[in-house]
Amino acid sequence: MAQYNFNEIKVFDDSMNDMDVIKTITDTVFQEKAFYIANIGNVIQKHDEWITKMPSVAPHFAVKCNPDLTVIKVLAALDVCFDCASEQEIKLVMQHGVHGDRIIFAHPTKYPSHITYAKKVGVKQMTVDNESELFKIKDLFPEAKIVIRIRCDAKNTPTVLGLKFGCESNDETVRLIHLTKNLGLNLHGFSFHVGSPCGEPEAYGRAIEICKQLITVSKSIGCDNVQLIDIGGGFPGESGTNLDEIASIVNETIRDLDPTIRVISEPGSYFVSSSFT
Ligand SMILES: Cc1ncc(COP(=O)(O)O)c(C=O)c1O
Repeated sequence: MAQYNFNEIKVFDDSMNDMDVIKTITDTVFQEKAFYIANIGNVIQKHDEWITKMPSVAPHFAVKCNPDLTVIKVLAALDVCFDCASEQEIKLVMQHGVHGDRIIFAHPTKYPSHITYAKKVGVKQMTVDNESELFKIKDLFPEAKIVIRIRCDAKNTPTVLGLKFGCESNDETVRLIHLTKNLGLNLHGFSFHVGSPCGEPEAYGRAIEICKQLITVSKSIGCDNVQLIDIGGGFPGESGTNLDEIASIVNETIRDLDPTIRVISEPGSYFVSSSFT
């Protein structure tokens, strides 16, 4: 009978359903601890769906959603980029050959030591939504690429991440743009997270339009290196859901963007909700 080592990948027959797999494992070994079964093929299908439906938006997997090593390895091998929230998450993805320019450090309040670590390993892109974060980065990593996060909540959304981060108003954002410039920092772009999972696809269109206006404002203030819109997470990931509606809104809203503007995203649950049982 097969020996199951749970540090290794085991491939089961496609015809087996989740319950058959669970029974095979529990009948084969004395399984005292809780465990997940992961359908890695499903993670790969999600990636296929993403690049087919939103080819102009580069996904950065939000590691906090599921730091499972197999998921990280597979996504790294598929050239997916990563949203990391700590030094530990940066280390984890870099162990799998991911270069610093494939990472965005997206915690709203970063430990100073983690900013210093990001500098050491070349993770330059980082989100900011308040003055003290900008002062910290000015002291520790003035070469960082600053991505200002705005708040734009979708309606009907269970987890309102705008309660946790994002500049509340246009005035607040414009003040931060000025401060970034006055501190001599490098304003790289704008980001948002509409909430998780998004209950109102139109929110992506609304938030992207605000980012476009902010890019125009930034350029008029003299921030010439603005080149990024990060559309965050919130994409549905449960079985039976798909990206169709959101993709059509996002694709339509970014269609007229200046080609120098790169669009990225931070999907988390999208890649892993339906893959883990
Ligand atoms: C900054 C940030 N980006 C991305 C995500 C992933 O969100 P989702 O699972 O809705 O894609 C989260 C989730 O908390 C987050 O805090």
